[in-house]
Formats: sequence, structure tokens, C-alpha cells
Amino acid sequence: MNYRHAFHAGNFADVLKHAALVRVLLYLRHKDKPFRVIDTHAGGGLYDLTGPEAARSGEARDGVLRLLDGGDLGAAGELLAPYLDLVRAAGAPGLYPGSPLIVQALLRPQDRAIFCELLPEAARDLRRALGRDERVKAVEIDGYTGLKAYVPPVERRGLVLIDPPFERRDEYERAFDSLKAALRKWPGGTYVIWQPVKEPDVAEAFCRAVAAEAPDCLRIDLQVEAPQPGRPLARTGLLIVHPPYVLERELEIILPALARLMARGPGAEFAITRYGRG
Ligand SMILES: C[S@@+](CC[C@H](N)C(=O)[O-])C[C@H]1O[C@@H](n2cnc3c(N)ncnc32)[C@H](O)[C@@H]1O
Repeated sequence: MNYRHAFHAGNFADVLKHAALVRVLLYLRHKDKPFRVIDTHAGGGLYDLTGPEAARSGEARDGVLRLLDGGDLGAAGELLAPYLDLVRAAGAPGLYPGSPLIVQALLRPQDRAIFCELLPEAARDLRRALGRDERVKAVEIDGYTGLKAYVPPVERRGLVLIDPPFERRDEYERAFDSLKAALRKWPGGTYVIWQPVKEPDVAEAFCRAVAAEAPDCLRIDLQVEAPQPGRPLARTGLLIVHPPYVLERELEIILPALARLMARGPGAEFAITRYGRG
């Protein structure tokens, strides 16, 4: 495993993923009934944007820092405010919260979360970042093994975040098999799967295969410049299985602002695709 999220923390892909994650969590909080979050690839929890990795890649500069630097969010301002407030609360612009800290901040006393992280140093950092909190558990385990073990949660309400590094050739296959098995055991859950869109045909085939298993899927893509060989990742996406009904409307407002503010060059755009519904 070579992947270190510290190089990418706060980049445009993190912004898309975490902004959507916050909207789903806020929706889950509408009802008093408890919910559970299962984060299969949790990372270290808190990232130093002034540290050597982030400074070397500079990715946060073209990502979250553009939103924090007073960029005009327009109509999306209200919908992005809870995410940006959490980022500031975690210590931005110097520090950036990963998905576990974002989740933890939005749990109520009755809610629970389980975070899986395979890399021992990242799992250790994560435990430190979460502190003592009986609502959350960080487990040093393969995320797909964890998913199999932890669904269905007793609460029967909640969210699974699948956010692998995609450094293995069989990552799509593993994510699909694991998601399919989880859906069989917990058909009522909401699942958010992150993907880098490097090969559009592969990304599309994955979304269609998932939609064949769970016919209510929403896909969002964010492209910050026209993809070119040799350039850094330019397009990223999320597939959301069983999205909250308000999410599509919210993303229609959020995505244009993100594409505008984080554009790296010509060709910045976004797409929203619904699978499985007329
Ligand atoms: C993209 S990062 C996660 C970022 C995090 N979800 C966030 O949004 O802040 C992927 C993480 O998965 C971890 N990882 C890699 N393979 C794994 C596996 N099989 N199971 C669990 N974690 C894994 C990596 O060490 C890395 O920390």
C-alpha cells in the first residue's frame, strides 16, 4: 500500500465527497431515530495542510482553500456552509478534517459510527484524532471485511462510505462485490462510493452494474479541467445508492459552484445522472 491521503487532503475530490457526505448526514439527523455510519476506508482523520505532503502536492490550494478564501459560493453558500463550518472548526486553513471527523461532528448522542482503516499508522492517527468518544470505533481492518461484518447495523438506518485509494487493479471488482453483498444484507442503507474518473467507460460500467442491484442511484461527477495524459486527476465522482430524496436538488445547486470555484483550466464541468428511475 503506497497511498497516503495526506497528499490529497482537501483537494477537489475531497471537497465533493465531504460536501455531499455532510448533506446526507444532515438529512439522517432529521429523524430522532438513531443512525449508524460505516466508513470502510477511513484514513487518518485529520490532515496538516502545511505539512510536507500537502505542501508538496499543493492540491488543497486548488481545492478547499479556494472555497475558504472568500470565493463567491452564490446560491450554494447556504448548502455548503455546514461543511465549511466543520472544516474551519477542525482548524482550517492549516488543518483539514477527513471523513471520520466530519462524521463524528455530526453524530448525535444516539448515533454511532465505525471506521475501518488498514494502514497501521493511519489507524493510530485516526484513534488519536477521534479521542475518547463512546459513539465511535476505529478498527484496523480491511474495509471490505469490515463491511461484511458490520451490516446490517442494529439501527437499520444510516450510511456506508466506501472510499478506497484505487491503487489496486481489482479495486472496482472488490468494491462491487462487497457492495452487492452488503445490499443483500442491508437493502435499506444509503451507500456512497467515491471513484476517480480516469477511464469514463470503466466508471460508467461500474455505476450501471451497481444500479442493476439497487435501482435508485444518483451519480455526480466533478471535472476541474479537460482530462489530459500526464496531468493530475481532473475528474472525480460519487455514486450514491438510495440517496435522500432532497439530495439531487441540493447537488444541482452545489455542483455548479464547485465546478466554477475549483476550475483548474478549460473544460471544468459537472454532471448529475440518475440511474434506475424514469
Ligand atoms: C482515500 S483515503 C480515505 C479518505 C477518507 N475516507 C476521507 O474522506 O477523509 C483511503 C484510505 O484507505 C486506506 N486503505 C487502503 N486499503 C484499505 C483497505 N483494504 N481497507 C481499509 N482501508 C484501506 C488507506 O490507507 C487510506 O487511508
